[in-house]
Amino acid sequence: AKDPVRVLVTGAAGQIGYALVPMIARGIMLGPDQPVILHMLDIAPAAEALNGVKMELVDAAFPLLKGVVATTDPVEACTGVNVAVMVGGFPRKEGMERKDVMSKNVSIYKSQASALEKHAAANCKVLVVANPANTNALILKEFAPSIPEKNITCLTRLDHNRALGQISEKVNVQVSDVKNVIIWGNHSSTQYPDVTHATVTTSAGEKPVPALVNDDEWLKSGFISTVQQRGAAIIKARKFSSALSAASSACDHIRDWVCGTPEGTWVSMGVYSDGSYNVPAGLIYSFPVTCRNGEWSIVQGLSIDEFSRKKLDLTAEELTEEKALAYSCLS
Ligand code: NAI
Repeated sequence: AKDPVRVLVTGAAGQIGYALVPMIARGIMLGPDQPVILHMLDIAPAAEALNGVKMELVDAAFPLLKGVVATTDPVEACTGVNVAVMVGGFPRKEGMERKDVMSKNVSIYKSQASALEKHAAANCKVLVVANPANTNALILKEFAPSIPEKNITCLTRLDHNRALGQISEKVNVQVSDVKNVIIWGNHSSTQYPDVTHATVTTSAGEKPVPALVNDDEWLKSGFISTVQQRGAAIIKARKFSSALSAASSACDHIRDWVCGTPEGTWVSMGVYSDGSYNVPAGLIYSFPVTCRNGEWSIVQGLSIDEFSRKKLDLTAEELTEEKALAYSCLS
């Protein structure tokens, strides 16, 4: 039997945490034959709720679940973890300035970076979900210099999956037959959902999405804004932000990273930019990636038309501003 993998979920008493931990315990993140030990971190005001989640995990009698650590101590939470899913953060409350939210999260990610650096297993893979996801991941990277930058990522897979969903509804095909959309940039409303290279598998082979959709106007406006604004639409409908889809996408992100992407398929991940596609180096930016042997690499050589170029640059500008704002909060 395989040794258990230790998976940290921060903010585990929150909404996404509640959807995510059973998925991990069921084998959806790491596979149906991979035992897991869950490490759940939250803050003191949520300690009792966190303990309730632990009770439910016991009650669910998951065969793959070999242990549960539920704690408010970041050191205990981070010790020995192989995968860290960072969902905990400070939400934007009414009347708060962007800078105030940034400042709270920057200090959380700075201190959790040190806890991970000192106590996580070597080669721990980190996925930041909490917003501002890209910039939280960047701060985590800066304050955990001994963790390789290739091990620190943020979640844009939810946006990627939303784009697949929109295309499948528009063309009336199964979502599993749509692939190779791209989310470029920030997990925010400046992200650029790009279908230029996306395809649909049909009985007559793989067809390009732009030709099948055959509605350039929709692809260039309605589609893009629907994906960009989907988070807000979910809040409006549910009164809470997306949770099951966020949790499921976080599982997709880690599973593909660890187990690899299928041949001919790429996914979107927020990763440390090396300057590919003339995106400024040193930002955590969402790119198309393929994964193999537990490592991602940015898909190279895709053509970028003038329309796309502007959108790639716009979201990079926002990330550069966020980075400057984050640094101004530190000093
Ligand atoms: P939530 O408010 O229900 O849960 C957040 C949890 O984090 C709470 O239990 C809170 O006590 C905890 N927390 C706060 N500070 C902490 C700290 N220092 N250490 C550990 N835990 C801490 O929020 P929800 O709905 O679960 O969302 C979590 C985050 O994920 C939010 O920042 C949200 O904006 C973000 N998000 C990101 C998505 C993405 O695609 N990247 C999609 C959906 C949400």
